[in-house]
Amino acid sequence: MTGWLGGLEERARTVLPAPVAEYVAQGARESLTTAAAVGAWREHRFLPHVLRDVTDVDPGVELLGRRSELPWGVAPTTLQRAVHPEGELAMARATHAAGGLVVVSSNAGTPFAEIGETGARWWLQAYLPADRTLAEPMLARARDAGAEAVVLTVDTPVVATKYAAGESVWATVDPGLVRVNFGPDHEGRPGADKATDLGPHDLDWLRETAGLPVVVKGVLRPDDARRCVEAGAAAVWVSNHGGRQLDRAATTAHALPAVAAEVGADAEVYVDGGLRTGLDVLTALALGADAAFLGRPPLWALAEGETGVARLHAELLEETVEALRLAGCRTVADTRGLLATPPVPGA
Ligand SMILES: Cc1cc2nc3c(=O)[nH]c(=O)nc-3n(C[C@H](O)[C@H](O)[C@H](O)COP(=O)(O)O)c2cc1C
Repeated sequence: MTGWLGGLEERARTVLPAPVAEYVAQGARESLTTAAAVGAWREHRFLPHVLRDVTDVDPGVELLGRRSELPWGVAPTTLQRAVHPEGELAMARATHAAGGLVVVSSNAGTPFAEIGETGARWWLQAYLPADRTLAEPMLARARDAGAEAVVLTVDTPVVATKYAAGESVWATVDPGLVRVNFGPDHEGRPGADKATDLGPHDLDWLRETAGLPVVVKGVLRPDDARRCVEAGAAAVWVSNHGGRQLDRAATTAHALPAVAAEVGADAEVYVDGGLRTGLDVLTALALGADAAFLGRPPLWALAEGETGVARLHAELLEETVEALRLAGCRTVADTRGLLATPPVPGA
C-alpha cells in the first residue's frame, strides 16, 4: 500500500507504546485469519462500466433509515484513550465532521454522555453478560446519550487467546481508560461474565430493553444470518472480529457474498475486516454490503489525534469517489454486479 493510508500503521507505531500497538495489531492464536484479511479483498477484479456520466458521484448510503455521507463507519474498538488521550471524543468528532457514523465499544474509556454531546451519530456495541439484567443500566445510559442502535457482538462467548509479543497491554494501561460505562461494582458481580448461551431470543430482549434497533455483529454464515433476520435483526454485520476470535475463521471477503444473497433483500448487511483502501470499500459494496466498517485503520489514525481521523476519512473518500468514477458507478447501488467472478486467489 502506498500514500498516506499506506503509512498509517508504521507512523502510529512510532508514537504508540509498544504494548498498545501490539494489542491493536494482534489476532487470535496464530493470527491466520488476521493475516489473510487484507489480501482477500484484493483477489477480486472489477468489470467497470463505461460510457456512463460520472460527473456527479454520490458515495453516501442510508443506514437504518438515516443518511451517512460515507459508505463506511468506524467499527467498535476498545483502548481508544490509550491510543490518544482524546480517544472516543476525537474519533466521534472527526467522523461526525465527515458525515459518518461511529460504533462505540461497550468497553469504551469515555462516558456515553460525553460522546453524545459531540453531536455525532453513534451506535452502541454490546456484549451481553450471563445475567442479562446486568446490561440494563448500560443500555439505558447509551439510549439516553443518543445511541441510535445497539450492535450485539455474537462471536465472543469467550475471549480468544492472543499471544502478546512483549508485555501485555493490560499490565501497562491505566484501568481508568477503559470500561467507564459500567457501574463501579460491575466486574465482580455474579453473572457479569460474557454470556455463553446467547440465542435468537436475546435479540428480542435486547430490542425491547434498549428500545433500539438491533444489529448483529460477527456473522459469517448465511444460515445464521437468516436466523438473525427471523429474530428481528435490523442488520447483519459480517465479521470475524478482525481475526481476534476464532483463528482460521473464513475471511469476510469470502463470507460476505453468501450472507448478502441470503438476507440482503430483508435486512441491511455490513462487513468489516481488512478493509484499508477505497478500492477495498468499493469491493465490499460490490459484493453486497450496504456499508463497510473499519477497526484498526481508525485506531492507527487516532494516534495522530482528531486530525488523523479526519484525514483518514478524507483520504478514503477521495479514493472511493475516484474508484466509483473509474468503475462507471454514480451511486453505491450501481456497484452491484461490478465484479468479475470468480475471484483470483493470490492475484
Ligand atoms: C484493538 C481492537 C479492539 C476491538 N474491540 C472490540 C470491541 O470492544 N467490540 C467489538 O465488537 N469488536 C471489537 N473489535 C473488532 C472490531 O470491531 C472489528 O470487527 C475489526 O477490528 C475489523 O477488522 P479490521 O481491524 O481489520 O478493520 C476490536 C478490534 C481491535 C483491533
